[in-house]
Amino acid sequence: MAIQIRTLEGVGAEITAVDLRELSNSEFAAVRGAYADHGVIFFRDQDISEDQHIAFAKRWGPININRFFAAHPEHPEIALVSKERDQQNNIGGGWHTDHSYDQIPAMGSILVARELPETGGNTLFASMYAAYDALSAGFQEMLSTLKAVHSARHIFGEGPSSYYQNTDAGDGRIGNTTAAEKLQDVVHPVVITHPLSGKKALYVNPAFTVRFEGWTEEESRPLLMQLYAHCMGPEFTHEFVWRPGSIAFWDNRATWHFARNDYHGHRREMHRITVEGEPLSG
Ligand code: SIN
Repeated sequence: MAIQIRTLEGVGAEITAVDLRELSNSEFAAVRGAYADHGVIFFRDQDISEDQHIAFAKRWGPININRFFAAHPEHPEIALVSKERDQQNNIGGGWHTDHSYDQIPAMGSILVARELPETGGNTLFASMYAAYDALSAGFQEMLSTLKAVHSARHIFGEGPSSYYQNTDAGDGRIGNTTAAEKLQDVVHPVVITHPLSGKKALYVNPAFTVRFEGWTEEESRPLLMQLYAHCMGPEFTHEFVWRPGSIAFWDNRATWHFARNDYHGHRREMHRITVEGEPLSG
């Protein structure tokens, strides 16, 4: 049976009749096209080893070794995204897009479910293509004149307001707060032209965007909050329910994601490989 691509409500596509361990070149091209069009793609029932996960990721580009997350003990390319039974807070427990704090943000991440709670632990995704498209032409034009400043220090850093310092989400899982302190703030266009699809996407996010360039944080907050409320609209989002063998592969330049933290007392472990991206432009 030929590869099947089914568009989901809100955002994303589910791809079936495919085995990621042995993708032909034509199947890879179809998967790549779906990824560019939808911003996030989902696979089910994949029996993929760590080495096969790495091999699949390498077909997309160089792997970004995560500087903050604990790595798999035998595979440094794999970041562990886990929550233990006795932990309260999780990794990724709020709307965000990864790596917007980098000068060249990573393209995206391939997340493989390794251990799941019986219920809960879903991941929400939001389309920044659709959120942009739903704005009026006048608002789109105004936003395209703006740039925004992004930072990782208040999330991964050492300061008193840092998420991973103030919660137990990082305990044993985030090990390198000094890496965040060394990061410079970066500036990206608020509306980007997506490097793969050529489509326009909104590129601000609640976790890492701190203000508009040339504006104070206080001045920036009302417009950022308005954009965030818009982007979280149910018409742009999809809630992915994990099952053993599930894989999600999202594009950081086209989507946000949010890992629900509703499975206290249960363990969840995911393996994440992130692929490097290319420079962004407006
Ligand atoms: C993440 O933000 O990378 C984690 C997503 C998840 O655990 O579902």
